[in-house]
Amino acid sequence: MDLFNYQDLEPVRQRVKELSNLIDHYNYEYYMNDRSLVSDYEFDQLLNELICLEKQHPELSLPNSPTRRVGGEVNKSFRQVAHRFPMLSLGNTYSIGEIEDFEARTRRLIGETPFTYTCELKYDGVAISLTYKNGELVQALTRGNGAVGDDITSNARTIGTIPLHLRGDYPDDFEARGEVVYPFEAFESFNQQRIDEGDEPFANPRNAASGSLKLQSSAECAKRKLMFCMYFMMLPSDIDVSRPPLDTHSARLDWARQMGFKVQPYIKECANIQEIKSFIDYWDEARWQLPFAIDGIVIKVNQVALWEQLGLTAKSPRWAIAYKFKAQRVSSPLQSISYQVGRTGIVTPVANMAPVSLGGTVVRRATLNNADFIRSLDIREHDWLFIEKGGEIIPKIVGIDSTHRLPDARPVAYIDRCPECGTPLVRAEGEAGHYCPNQDSCPPQQLGRLEHFVSRKAMNIDTLGAERIKMLFDNGLVRDVADFYSLRREQLIGLGVDSGATIQDRSADNIIEAIRNSLSVPFERVLFALGIRYVGEVGAKKIARYFKSMDALLAASRDELLQVEDIGEVTADAVLSFFSDPHQREVVFRLREAGLHMNLTEVSQGASLQGLTFVVSGVFEHFSRDEIKESIELHGGKVSGSISGKTSYLLAGDKMGPEKLKKAEKLGIPILSESDYENMIQS
Ligand code: IVH
Repeated sequence: MDLFNYQDLEPVRQRVKELSNLIDHYNYEYYMNDRSLVSDYEFDQLLNELICLEKQHPELSLPNSPTRRVGGEVNKSFRQVAHRFPMLSLGNTYSIGEIEDFEARTRRLIGETPFTYTCELKYDGVAISLTYKNGELVQALTRGNGAVGDDITSNARTIGTIPLHLRGDYPDDFEARGEVVYPFEAFESFNQQRIDEGDEPFANPRNAASGSLKLQSSAECAKRKLMFCMYFMMLPSDIDVSRPPLDTHSARLDWARQMGFKVQPYIKECANIQEIKSFIDYWDEARWQLPFAIDGIVIKVNQVALWEQLGLTAKSPRWAIAYKFKAQRVSSPLQSISYQVGRTGIVTPVANMAPVSLGGTVVRRATLNNADFIRSLDIREHDWLFIEKGGEIIPKIVGIDSTHRLPDARPVAYIDRCPECGTPLVRAEGEAGHYCPNQDSCPPQQLGRLEHFVSRKAMNIDTLGAERIKMLFDNGLVRDVADFYSLRREQLIGLGVDSGATIQDRSADNIIEAIRNSLSVPFERVLFALGIRYVGEVGAKKIARYFKSMDALLAASRDELLQVEDIGEVTADAVLSFFSDPHQREVVFRLREAGLHMNLTEVSQGASLQGLTFVVSGVFEHFSRDEIKESIELHGGKVSGSISGKTSYLLAGDKMGPEKLKKAEKLGIPILSESDYENMIQS
């Protein structure tokens, strides 16, 4: 860089530094101390200014810039990296007796030297290891098999409680180990959002945390609001650990807190087994008040010098042990069974029980899953049911308390008609549950169908949520999905919802406009939006590609449907049964009248890329590699593996191979970015 340029850049460099420091400071206060020092608006202004400067001057964009907190990198695959120090696991037990044995053995092995234990929470999440060099985060790895983990650095940078640079004094080179957890509140709202968008919810916060760390898009990971709880400092073996604060585990954690790590305050130094036991007993009850899940208590010898003396077993240290909480279990009498009918007509029996306190909440209801579940537990009228609450939030029925069984108790009778519409229930062969076949006029199924139709991956009519749909339904304005397209703004204005709000002019306009915009949704998504049983997003795409038009699909035989890749007999029958229903055929006809896409060719316009050959390299933000290739072919283009004189374009993603770039430049082949490509197919 020449002198002139350097001087030119200096004020920008200064501003970047100033903004970074300010934003880091605000982030620290927000994530560590729950304090907002500026309004969201001001914060976004500063962040946007920094993002702009870094875009204009990529050379000033540092790997730990606070802009990395919002993500943006794409992880096509996670690089496997060997841990510098293996990530050991802990011996664990559900038995207090074994904790007593551990304590006695430790005391015997240590002998005369005075020592203490630390007791802390065992976080129920995903273990990761963060490497810091000279106070900067340089790498984040998952535990993997303990020897090799996945490099998740760009996702880890989006977690607010992971410091990107350390404060005050710190060791030059060390690893901070801890657990990434998904706090309950954020987890529940994320799961609700998934349900609203028609995706499967995660079973528990741990699975969701693990899935989030492995997201390809770090921007998506940033939205998940994960939290890092630090529990261990791993230092290179040549460091002198005989002086404070490195000589005890608790002093190391206190020090780590000063460096900017989130170290939970629930840690206690214990002198003997009684103190350990009372810590365990306390948290077995109090755990339900925490904002995140724990599954036990970890007990460690506090004096680091003793660790070496105690040594390791095959895979865990002898100076620490984990006590795991048992699931809490109570029993309560069954009072009645309610039956819920879901969006697809599946019936779920729910036990109503006498209210009983379990893990900090009062339980009144729990799912009985399906008829087979009831039969396998042999549930009788007035039985007492055992309910358990484990690491998951939702209490589960796990058995019958036979001490309360009445001598002449009758097996519970399962319903044979839909509780919502009275239609006789059906049970498909080999399936555990019953369903209501009245898809056209069973109210929860009608509502579910409408909600699915407008959902993001279907027609994406985002101004209509569940509440508004119910209002349109209850007012008789929308009964089936085709009715959306005959709504008029005058019908909407003044309609009220439960929350008390009424639809005003602006909202009515927005609803009508979103419905009109949905006319451009391609055929494959229209097909998905119809909500045919077993036809998901991918299945709809495959069917649309195969038949190319609604007319061809309506005329398809079972054999033809079975020709479609990945479509089996169950799905083929579901498609046939859907389109043989006169009401559904009429709905499809009205949707066509309304102007929805009913042909694949309408989207691809045959061949906007006809005659063009593409070479694809690198990773993309909006497409997987296969998707971008599919998209090229769908638009009539060809994909080739290597660059030659016949190549029309090199479609270049992130981390593209340098050889391909060189060759394309040499042959003068134009290079397209992902957004160039998107513009090309849109025009
Ligand atoms: S200490 C060598 N402390 O529990 C010591 N582990 O098998 C390493 N865990 O996978 C672990 N909370 O991810 C430690 N406060 C805590 C912990 C904790 C959760 C996890 C850890 C490990 C497993 C133990």
